[in-house]
Amino acid sequence: QRSLLGLKGMSQPELVSILDRAAYWDAHTEKQVSVLQSRFVANMFFENSTRTRFSFEMAEKRLGAEVLNFTSAVSSVEKGESIYDTVRTLESMGIDAGIIRLKPSGVLQELAEKVNVPLINAGDGNNEHPTQGLLDLYTMRQEFGELKGLHVAIVGDILHSRVARSNLWALQTMGAKVSFCAPDNMRADDIGEVSYISMEEALQADVVMMLRVQLERHAVGILKSAEEYRLQYGLTEERAARMKQHAIIMHPAPVNRNVEIDDALVESPKSKIFPQMQNGVPIRMAVIERALRN
Ligand code: CP
Repeated sequence: QRSLLGLKGMSQPELVSILDRAAYWDAHTEKQVSVLQSRFVANMFFENSTRTRFSFEMAEKRLGAEVLNFTSAVSSVEKGESIYDTVRTLESMGIDAGIIRLKPSGVLQELAEKVNVPLINAGDGNNEHPTQGLLDLYTMRQEFGELKGLHVAIVGDILHSRVARSNLWALQTMGAKVSFCAPDNMRADDIGEVSYISMEEALQADVVMMLRVQLERHAVGILKSAEEYRLQYGLTEERAARMKQHAIIMHPAPVNRNVEIDDALVESPKSKIFPQMQNGVPIRMAVIERALRN
């Protein structure tokens, strides 16, 4: 079984092979193929999603798979059924792979060890979001040709960000330099060798990746004022004008417009935010195919 639980520890050849396969699907003109005909994939989202859920579904359908959509709010989870019992239930019905998004960190590994179908992590707590990391790498490679030597500054709510962690592990493996920039109460102490830099220094990076302020994960009082945050750590139009000419803006979305990034920048020429979403489909095609190939 070829689960994808995270990018930490994934080798450079493995990362490259997924990116290359995504490029193959990206260039594929046929909208739907029958590579996964008669294979059943369940999307199990125990936490809300728009981009990840629908791009997985798009990817599965483009590959010709049969798709089952599970949403916890209208399931027996509401009656107290556990995540494990839910996944085992779908497994016993015959799914071939499961895409799973979870609120808590640290339970996915154990879950994957207990079931026999491959699981693909669609985001687990603040731990990892591997397909987001892969689509981000793909977007950077598309822009710059290679990842080695790039300086990527990840700015904002690092503490609560699975996107920051997945990007960090994969970018370091690929030879890019990653720096973090965050207010003191949004820094993470559990992540290895990364330097924290100022906002001014972050503006000199090749990639300025802004993170969403994740209010739903905050303890009370972490964000005192959205306007104050914007002034200190937001990518304002004035700051973006000081970025390098070739540099790009990224953000995993959803975006808090005029908090971590100014409204006018979201679809500005430097912004790759919508291309990131577009790239989510071929990346997820590559990952699902990897999980189910014989
Ligand atoms: N970037 C991302 O994971 O978005 P969703 O929460 O909408 O899936």
